[in-house]
Amino acid sequence: MSDHEIAEKCLDYIGKNQTPYFGENGELFRGIKESHGVLYALAGFLAKTTHNSLSCLEIGSFAGASALTWAWCAETLFDRAGGVMCLDPWDEIKGNAMAPENSQYTTAYLAQIYEIFLANVKYAEFGPSITHHKTGIEEFQQNIPRQKFNVIYIDGDHAYESVTRDILIASEMLEQDGILCGDDLSLQADEVDVNALEEAINSKQQFAQDSKTGLNFHPGVTGAVWKTLGKVSKYGATWYMQKSHSNWKPIDLTGEAVKFPPHYPDIE
Ligand SMILES: C[S@@+](CC[C@H](N)C(=O)[O-])C[C@H]1O[C@@H](n2cnc3c(N)ncnc32)[C@H](O)[C@@H]1O
Repeated sequence: MSDHEIAEKCLDYIGKNQTPYFGENGELFRGIKESHGVLYALAGFLAKTTHNSLSCLEIGSFAGASALTWAWCAETLFDRAGGVMCLDPWDEIKGNAMAPENSQYTTAYLAQIYEIFLANVKYAEFGPSITHHKTGIEEFQQNIPRQKFNVIYIDGDHAYESVTRDILIASEMLEQDGILCGDDLSLQADEVDVNALEEAINSKQQFAQDSKTGLNFHPGVTGAVWKTLGKVSKYGATWYMQKSHSNWKPIDLTGEAVKFPPHYPDIE
């Protein structure tokens, strides 16, 4: 089945069943189950500090899987207090930068995904609001410069320049003690062949296999996170740091409860 057909099927299913849906095999559920458990643990970590509501900014929402997870976290861990602001142009990414193998993130496809995002948000039965802007963070900050969030999750374009920009602007929009986090940091820069990393970034490779570890990774994410934050806390490919005045503090999630959201596809 083509990406378009899968998207059409999903939209049809959501309309008929009035429930969030990400495909029979979870095709539109970007991110693995484990990473959603980490988002829950991070929200739990935040709930234990002075924060009494979860105000999340998400960069890169696609069909809404992680946005729904953040809203569910606000619902369950913050007594429904908070909301999720989603940023995504839902428009073609030049050079097919984000598309997994065999997928095409064309304008037409992302227009379909946007419809699915809207439908998933509509039928998600969470109290906290999920709102969105069809822009990236640069334009959002220009329009709403003073808005602050206590969690910012970066999962947009994975090119080096884009991730660098997203991290730098997000750092300004994050509250004190807030959490900056993101997806797809499979390897940190001190784990990979640095010369090959530089080469992969310069030649704008979206995916690469590291010769030192033999593992696949996103050079743009690895390079940008290292340049802006240095070594970060991470579990799986999800990375996170806590803002502390002009610095960043590592986060230890040991002992934090882990749960998985109800919209996780039943595919195991
Ligand atoms: C990996 S997907 C996000 C998956 C989503 N977080 C989830 O878990 O379901 C990446 C998304 O980033 C979006 N994107 C691309 N460039 C962006 C930008 N500059 N700002 C925000 N989002 C962007 C794409 O349209 C795509 O929907």
